[in-house]
Order: sequence, then structure tokens, then C-alpha cells
Amino acid sequence: MSVPPLQALPLELLRQRSSTKWKSYGDDVIPMFVAETDFPLAPAITAALTRAVEIGDTGYTPPRPGIDLDFAAYAERRWGWRPDPARIRWTGDVMMGVVEVLRAVTRPGDRVVVTPPVYPPFFDTVEEAGAVVELVPLLDHGDGWELDLPGIEAALAAGARSILLCNPHNPTGTVHTRDSLAGLARLAERYGATVVSDEIHAPLTHAPSVFTPFLDAAPEAAAVGYAVTSASKTYNLAGLKCAVIVTASDETAAVVRSLPWEVEWRAGLFGVIANRAAFSAESDAWLDGLLAALDENRRLLADLLAEHLPLARYRIPDAGFLAWVDVSAYGWGENPAPYIRREAGVALHHGPLFGVEGIGHVRINVGCAPEVLTEAIERIGRLARR
Ligand SMILES: Cc1ncc(COP(=O)(O)O)c(C=O)c1O
Repeated sequence: MSVPPLQALPLELLRQRSSTKWKSYGDDVIPMFVAETDFPLAPAITAALTRAVEIGDTGYTPPRPGIDLDFAAYAERRWGWRPDPARIRWTGDVMMGVVEVLRAVTRPGDRVVVTPPVYPPFFDTVEEAGAVVELVPLLDHGDGWELDLPGIEAALAAGARSILLCNPHNPTGTVHTRDSLAGLARLAERYGATVVSDEIHAPLTHAPSVFTPFLDAAPEAAAVGYAVTSASKTYNLAGLKCAVIVTASDETAAVVRSLPWEVEWRAGLFGVIANRAAFSAESDAWLDGLLAALDENRRLLADLLAEHLPLARYRIPDAGFLAWVDVSAYGWGENPAPYIRREAGVALHHGPLFGVEGIGHVRINVGCAPEVLTEAIERIGRLARR
């Protein structure tokens, strides 16, 4: 049975929001850059946060906030994977979790494999952890992208100590296959390396693609893997600061337990409250409606580009609400986004920030109303026809 798509909030309301998406540019610009979405919160999240405000529940996160049990139950319902709650810890956000795990599993100057084009903070985060980025770009096989396992093996053989995985991948929306992830796990085990898997986009995997949690991809993954995730992207909770760090062996769980206490204290209480409500079964129907809306938009974008920007190259993402579009044929320079913002009034994410693979590219956030997406692409189409 198909689920009705969730309706985005009207623009007049969205423009009253005070977040980065809505306050970086004036009202003449359609913002489609940062990964915030335009939908109403899941009702269970609104209720939980409203109650917390009513009773002034604004203190510190408690020592046992319950998010371990909630995330384990969610993982089982959505992906048939049951991580052991005893091996789930929490922190302020996904990138905080990633940097602290990387700091724990590498020594200063160690090399960490990053697979561009990729979420730009990955580059900085590796450096923040004291390590050095080793680039092994995704392989582009025309229909889609995949991990370059021979390239990663060469990097590991030459001494790289860890792989920072984006699973599913931002910005291409690639859902890595179980085979590919299992191959990665075996390589990491063979070379004594670790895999830090950022799984923030996982709930947004579109059928028939199937998300494989890295820790569940192969028996070897348990010994080498650390998964970091949050409800923040799917449920638009980025301002509330909460993420979980998941492990699947005694040794890796001990590494996470040995992180400084502060790592857990950084989880905000509102973040915990909102993530727990997101992971509860009560929010599943909302998520299904969101997926229906995003499914329509990722296809609508293909139609709009064919009509208004026929030289653009776009492959419909298998996960998420971010679209990776090559507009190099229009001659708008290496980084087309600033020109498009100035001339067409549409703010897109800058392709080259994702790596040199992003030259001539933009990333478009389609987590909005179909009318807003249509208006944005029409505006850029008029620029192309000038
Ligand atoms: C792959 C990926 N990881 C992490 C983040 C940011 O997550 P957080 O705010 O929890 O650090 C994003 C945000 O878009 C993302 O796309």
C-alpha cells in the first residue's frame, strides 16, 4: 500500500525559522544548500519536546538516557539488525563521534582513507583527529558509484590505518552493497585497520535499495568497525545535538568506553529526547510519509532538469534528499554555485568542496515542497537560456 507523501511547510512559515538554511540569505533566494529539510516535525518529537519545555526539563543528559535501547529497537524494525544496547554510547553529533573515534584508533600523522566526492567536513575531521587524509575516490561506473576496493587495499598496504566511510554516501546517494561493505571489512581486518562508518543517511534509503549497516555486513566487521549515526538528518534535528556510537565486539566497545567522559556529556538533553521520539515506533508512519515525499522529489528533479537544464547530468540517488548534479556543460566555471545564487537566486552547495570530483557540480537539497523545487530549477533554467 502506498503511503501519502508528507507535505512540506509553507514558505511563509519556513522563512520564520532561524536556522542556517533560512538565515544565510535574503528572502529573494531559494535555499537548497545545507542539509536541513522543510517538513513539520514528526508529531511524537513535537510532543516530547513541548512537554520538556512545559516542565522546564532543560538540564543535563542523564547517565542512562535510554537511547541505546531505542536505537537498537529501531535498527531491528527498520533494517533487521539488532545491535547490542550494551555496546551503544552517545555524544553531541555525528561528526563529534567520528572525530573522537578517529582520535582513539589512530596516532598523530596516521593516514585515513576518505572517498571523494564526499561530505566536506570529512576532510577537516580527519585533520582535527591529528591524522592525514588519503584520497581514494569512489569509482564512477556510469550508472552509479562504488567503493574502489583495490584502491583502498593499495592505501592500506601502504600503511593507511583507517577508512572513514559514508554509508549511504553523501553527496551521490550511493547505498553501498553488502558485498562491497563485506569486502571492505575483510580488507580492514587483513591489514589491521579500522572502519568508521557514518550512517546518518541510512533511514532515508529508498526501496528497492536496501541499507546494510556496516557492522552487520560480514563477521569481520565486528572486529574493525565503529558506526556513528543520529536521527538528526532524517528528522531534521541537527540543532539539538545527539548521536550514537555503535560497536559490535568487546574490544571496539572498550575503545569507545575509554573515550573521555566529556564525549558523552556533549549530548544535549533536547537532542536525546528528540532522538528517542524519532526512534520510537510512533514515528515510523511519519518516516514512511517523508520517504514517499522524497521519492517523488528525486524523480521530479530528473524531469525538471530534462526540461529546463537538459545538459545537466544527474543520477537519481538511492538514499537521502541530496542530489549531485554536474552542470559543467553550461560553462559556469569550476564552482557554479555562487554564480547560480547571484544570478538565479537559488543557493546550492558548492561542488568543489566535496573534492576535485565536484568541479562543475552542485549539490541540490530536494527536502522541500515540489513547488519550491520546480521554481528553483525554472529559475536556473532561465539563467541557462540567457
Ligand atoms: C554524511 C554526513 N555526516 C554527518 C553530517 C552532520 O551530522 P551532525 O550534525 O550530527 O554532525 C551530515 C550532514 O549533512 C552528513 O551528510
